[in-house]
Amino acid sequence: MAVSSEEYRQALSRWATGVTVVTARHGERIHGMTVSAFTAVSLDPPLVLICAELASHTLPVIAEGGVFAVNVLSREQFELSNKFASKRYEWQRFDGLELDIGATGAPLLRGVVVNIDCRVVAAHPHGDHVVYVGSVEEVRHFDREPLLYFRGTYGGITP
Ligand SMILES: Cc1cc2nc3c(=O)[nH]c(=O)nc-3n(C[C@H](O)[C@H](O)[C@H](O)COP(=O)(O)O)c2cc1C
Repeated sequence: MAVSSEEYRQALSRWATGVTVVTARHGERIHGMTVSAFTAVSLDPPLVLICAELASHTLPVIAEGGVFAVNVLSREQFELSNKFASKRYEWQRFDGLELDIGATGAPLLRGVVVNIDCRVVAAHPHGDHVVYVGSVEEVRHFDREPLLYFRGTYGGITP
């Protein structure tokens, strides 16, 4: 029996994740979106992957620029998660944010738990998403509590 879209979404929402903002640069253009589909692929060499929806406006910036940064949000940054997921604020997402620039030129957010700056080494289209594999060129990590996401609700590790 085929799984309905609603059942599938309900099932996936029960997978607790961290929350990242994936940022990208193509020339002068920067863009970014909230992404939970992030995981490590390889330790040696260091490779990670993200899954980007075909319809997302961040996808062409990754595809054309060939770089992306994974910014793992800290617990206090849930508003940033909402902003980078909302179409309404699409053109104001970076307003007021202080950015660093990674080794690849991708924008790095501040106040996060980790920045992972990557160069795209493979792109695999599957269904309505593209899996981007990134070779890690720079990491920055900080002692902050991460933001978690489960069944559509934000939380933290400590109560
Ligand atoms: C918690 C959370 C996780 C998300 N994870 C992903 C993801 O892994 N991949 C993706 O393509 N979109 C994901 N989204 C949806 C995008 O953030 C959203 O569609 C965004 O508006 C895309 O922006 P863009 O079209 O400017 O790229 C997520 C949204 C939320 C709130």
